[in-house]
Amino acid sequence: MCGIFGCIVNEGEVAPLIHLALKRLEYRGYDSAGIATVYKGLLFLKKDSGRIDEIHEKLDLNSLPGMIGIGHTRWATHGAPNMENAHPHTDCTGKIAIAHNGIIENYIEIKKSLESKGHIFKSRTDSEVFAHLIEDNIKNNMSFEDSVKQAVKLISGSYAIAAIHADEDKILCVKNESPLIIGISDNGVFCASDIPALLPYTNRVIELFDGEMAILSLRNIKIIRIKDESIVQRYETIIDWSMDMAEKGGFPHFMLKEIYEQPRAIRDALRIDKRLINIASMLIENSDRLFLVACGTSYHACLAISYIFSELSLINAIPCIASEFLKSYAQLVDESTVVIAVSQSGETRDTLTAVKNAKMRGAQIIGVTNVIGSELARISDIYLNMQAGPEIGVAATKTYISQLTLLSLLAINFSHNYGLASENIYRRLLSELYEASVIIEKYLRRIDNEAKRIAQVIAPRENVFYLSRGINVASALEGALKLKEISYIHAEGYPAGESKHGPIALVEEGFPCIFITPTGETSVKILGNIMEMKARGAKIISITQDDAHEVKEVSDIFISIESNLSEILTPIIFSPPLQLIAYHTAILRLKDPDKPRNLAKSVTVP
Ligand code: AGP
Repeated sequence: MCGIFGCIVNEGEVAPLIHLALKRLEYRGYDSAGIATVYKGLLFLKKDSGRIDEIHEKLDLNSLPGMIGIGHTRWATHGAPNMENAHPHTDCTGKIAIAHNGIIENYIEIKKSLESKGHIFKSRTDSEVFAHLIEDNIKNNMSFEDSVKQAVKLISGSYAIAAIHADEDKILCVKNESPLIIGISDNGVFCASDIPALLPYTNRVIELFDGEMAILSLRNIKIIRIKDESIVQRYETIIDWSMDMAEKGGFPHFMLKEIYEQPRAIRDALRIDKRLINIASMLIENSDRLFLVACGTSYHACLAISYIFSELSLINAIPCIASEFLKSYAQLVDESTVVIAVSQSGETRDTLTAVKNAKMRGAQIIGVTNVIGSELARISDIYLNMQAGPEIGVAATKTYISQLTLLSLLAINFSHNYGLASENIYRRLLSELYEASVIIEKYLRRIDNEAKRIAQVIAPRENVFYLSRGINVASALEGALKLKEISYIHAEGYPAGESKHGPIALVEEGFPCIFITPTGETSVKILGNIMEMKARGAKIISITQDDAHEVKEVSDIFISIESNLSEILTPIIFSPPLQLIAYHTAILRLKDPDKPRNLAKSVTVP
């Protein structure tokens, strides 16, 4: 939930570099931030609540001296977002500083024991105990390195921690279940929660795995396994993301840029090594039960794909919200179960918990994620990389399209190998998947303007319904989630047939109802639902295909897409208009779509 960054340079000062890196990590949390540096045996610290720009204006984050430092941008879990709870946290002597991402679960007992020894705590966070644990060990004549090692052995939970000491020329990093990568350049060494923060300085990275500690200095980088203190040999890898991929590239917001990157995201997702798709299909074929597990937007991708498995292969692929998995389905999991776990970040705690439980019961895990080196990638039996590039906007857009594409490819391939899809159907669906990127590329600029007009209708309202049938119920849910999370308008997505069972009671004059209506049989059915709402004064907004003439006739406003895609692939082409409607509504309501309140990009708490 938080972003951490550390660096040691051999010329210049680190504070401006850490400041810039924190800006690039701000999507991970933005309720407070801080930087600590070491200079001539002293520790310097600046931190406060608020966004990085506000803090910088108040404190001048660039003016800390020294060539070693760490920084942190926070999404509060323990303790309110205020100055005291902002990281980095220090010990009683003011010589040690730590930045932590994750949760130290047993901090209360550790804190009590440290307090009984006289330690004074300044914050209400779980993290601060780590600084005092190091201090305590140093008091007992341990080296800085050993103190951190011993401190790690006492804590449980998830953590990526970077620690510095005023008398040392190194940064110590430890990790368990929270991400941390190391960067190397000719001018220094770095550690960061995520790749975009490193890109201005280097593309050479080394992964750090759970249970390891890295000792970073200008002389060398040493990695040890904490459990047995063995030295780990790990080679660096080169990241081929360009700086521009993690910048706004001329768009006013990352979210808009990422919406426009979707044609490429589809093509990149389809670049997956087909052997992996074949192996994943084989695992499913050899199983008796198939679950699709995820949270939020990723769950909507799962829901959509469950329809494809059912339609093309008569397979009951059960979509499940990860946080409910243990209670609802875990008992059914055994060695003949396959779980497809979907998470753009690969860090979502609820998804990882479900996966670990299923794994423990013997299930095979197919992980679908966008982050190389993420925990989901590591614990999966097969890992399908979405290859969408960095997604900085908190609202998932292009990664949703990548998930839909990759999972559709898997479901289509499975059906070809083991299900009902003939060679012809298989080839047609494959070529339609590629065509989806062309369709979106063609319509994006045009529908951007149409989405703006729809946003003007929605922006002043307090409630919106998103309705569809069949596979596009997933699109309705996703459209509603996008609107809620970035414009703060209440929105509900549900199957259109459900209106008369309750929700229609809310409809009055001008109530916006957005219908996602593919052509064919579904549009005939949806037409009836549109008329029910229209008769009660609803404002009918349709996202539809060019030949859905009747739907367009009864709509007050519509976005029409030229395409003959099979219905099971239409969620891919219906998503960008829904994302644009949410985006423009947020802009009209003067909200920052990249950093919605109370949300963070990776949800690493249960
Ligand atoms: C997406 O717009 C949301 N911010 C959120 O629902 C997200 O999809 C969810 O937290 C799951 O994240 P993941 O894909 O990284 O696991």
